[in-house]
Amino acid sequence: MKRLILLVGLFALGILAWAQPGMEYVVSTETTLAAVAQDVLGNPDFAPAIMRATNAKSLVDPSFLKISSLDMAIPAGAKLWIPDRTWAEAFMAFWDPNRPEDLFGGGKLVVGSWWTAGGEAEGLNALFKIYGEYFPDVQIVNATIAGGAGFVFRAVIKPRLIAGNPPDTFQLHAGLEVEGYSPETYLTPLDKLYEIEGWDKVLPKDLLDLLVYKGHYWGVPVNIHRANVLWYDKEIFEKYGLTPPKNWDEFFAICGKLKAEGVVPFVMGNAGGWEAAHLFETILVSTLGAEGYKGLWTGETPWTSEGVTKALEILKKILDYVNPDYAALSWDGAGEYLIAHKGAMMIMGDWTNGWFMSKGYEGYGWAPVPGTQGIFDALSDTFCLPKLAPHPINALGWLEVCGSKEGQIAFNTRKGSIPARTDLTPEEKAQFNPYLQSCMEDFARDAIVPSVIHGAAAIESWVTDFKDAVNLFLATKDVAGTQRALVEAAEAALAAMGK
Ligand code: GAL
Repeated sequence: MKRLILLVGLFALGILAWAQPGMEYVVSTETTLAAVAQDVLGNPDFAPAIMRATNAKSLVDPSFLKISSLDMAIPAGAKLWIPDRTWAEAFMAFWDPNRPEDLFGGGKLVVGSWWTAGGEAEGLNALFKIYGEYFPDVQIVNATIAGGAGFVFRAVIKPRLIAGNPPDTFQLHAGLEVEGYSPETYLTPLDKLYEIEGWDKVLPKDLLDLLVYKGHYWGVPVNIHRANVLWYDKEIFEKYGLTPPKNWDEFFAICGKLKAEGVVPFVMGNAGGWEAAHLFETILVSTLGAEGYKGLWTGETPWTSEGVTKALEILKKILDYVNPDYAALSWDGAGEYLIAHKGAMMIMGDWTNGWFMSKGYEGYGWAPVPGTQGIFDALSDTFCLPKLAPHPINALGWLEVCGSKEGQIAFNTRKGSIPARTDLTPEEKAQFNPYLQSCMEDFARDAIVPSVIHGAAAIESWVTDFKDAVNLFLATKDVAGTQRALVEAAEAALAAMGK
């Protein structure tokens, strides 16, 4: 029961119009909350749940009584909101009597994420805005730790979880990343929330499968991102009469031509230490295909495969055409090359689309990474609920906003990702930019494969080994040695996973 939710406040607020698990109740003679709780729910201990639900309702409808204390005399004629009994139980499982502010919808909501870049920050703020409309008395604390893909964030958040000092909710990739947080010890399973919200009916099957770890849901997804996108500057492509490359031969032909013209053919940043590994992941998808790539992470595709060798050779060749300052730039720093029309192509996830929007840059085109047509290298950002969240009631409201249609439209139109929910109407889809509309179509049609660098495909230790091997390769360019390191990393990880 601990795992359940407040919901009461949110449902009472009508954030999800189809669910109203409660009822209006008008007091006939002066009484107390405990007496009403006894009368209506059969248990006087549910008084705090009625107080919280009624106060939440009164935020948007002042005809409901605003209740200032649990002992307050409730006058005749006062209108209360009585939550459904199951929900009242859920609330009581979370409510801490030492935190009376929860009954007013006050206190704080500490949200942990690594969303500080353009597009990322705008998306997050859009979610905050909606949350603030429903819970105006809650003070939102935006606890970001900068660093793309969350490698820095995870290193900071993990010791905090273990020390019992987590934020109320934090960003977590869907997939095996959750293993790194020992969720059974530190996180709250969200199965009941999924059940009540009916999220299993509005989220795609591939994503639902990815969200389950050890039999439970641990995060609420806000989006789906695509990793295997080639972005290009249209001005440069037009100037030199180029079309987006469909395979690596075409890609290198373009690179050769542009290099001769003094344009940087391909840009990347690797200051975060993950960007080159992101690129390599997408090359593996191209050389192995959807099934072959997926098999790398389950033990079905040997890492000694020719496709892995080929992928390393492609990466090695790309390094001949890359901006010389790549080690010093982050992914968005590298994107500046495109905006300035100084660099032609870049391979990065579609948060780049959000970032371009935030920079007001519209001159970009996109295509699947060469050789990955029909394959969607996917990842999803979710928010979780730590067991020791200091304001769990407020966090539950946050998860509701994240899972809601309203939240996902506001967030994703800015973030550059598509909603995780599949129940958008054509009018709602029309609010998304052309890239995102094409992305929605691709997601519905393509073969979906899990991203490794963004937490979906592999346990954390494997992601780290994979990333380290690629980073070393940038210096050594040793194909055979790197492939051996990748084979060893896979053996160690598969053994740890009992495979
Ligand atoms: C990914 C994350 C995206 C985006 C990107 C760059 O791991 O899922 O939402 O923020 O990192 O920071």
